[in-house]
Amino acid sequence: MLDDDVQSVLISEKEIAAKIIEMAAAIDADYGLPLSDGAAGREPGRELVLVGVLKGAGFVMADLARALRTPVTLEYMAVSSYGSSTSSSGVVRILKDLDKDISGADVLLVEDIIDSGLTLSWLLRNLQSRNPASLEVVAMLRKPEAIAVDVRVRYVGFDIPNVFVVGYGLDYAQRYRQLPYVGTLRPEIYS
Ligand code: PRP
Repeated sequence: MLDDDVQSVLISEKEIAAKIIEMAAAIDADYGLPLSDGAAGREPGRELVLVGVLKGAGFVMADLARALRTPVTLEYMAVSSYGSSTSSSGVVRILKDLDKDISGADVLLVEDIIDSGLTLSWLLRNLQSRNPASLEVVAMLRKPEAIAVDVRVRYVGFDIPNVFVVGYGLDYAQRYRQLPYVGTLRPEIYS
């Protein structure tokens, strides 16, 4: 069982589910369609596009989209950072690009984790150059190092310590993404 490889659970399935609902409510409040009295909301007819960064964000995307009441369309990008596999270099290569033009759309970039923040920083520059009407970020997890990088993250699920975590989309050698919680692995798994 995969669970046997886990040393400790940092964020439980229940905590993740509650956070998804909380973040979806905040996003609905910010991007929701105008109220009948015109008091709040955004411009009608403007599309909200969730852009998920594969593979990790697939889980947040699916859960968040189902919790949102605001209509959204889903787009995915796959990127790879040059350099070592354990730390990002900040130089990113697009493996799979968006299927459509996002100019004039409200874009919400969906990430599972912001670690160094370098991938996000590159992605934001890249997406901004495509002239969206707005561009914001939602991330389930954020590590302290990321806070040092100048990237705007509008919605953050949990700030976590600088430890290696798996689950809820996060992998070790491509495994463990399917765990419904976020946890650390027993040290012997790495050896
Ligand atoms: C993870 C995560 C972010 C990036 C964050 O993806 O999904 O895209 O790393 O790291 P950074 O803040 O240090 O740049 P990864 O490259 O591991 O790909 P994956 O989602 O396919 O596992």
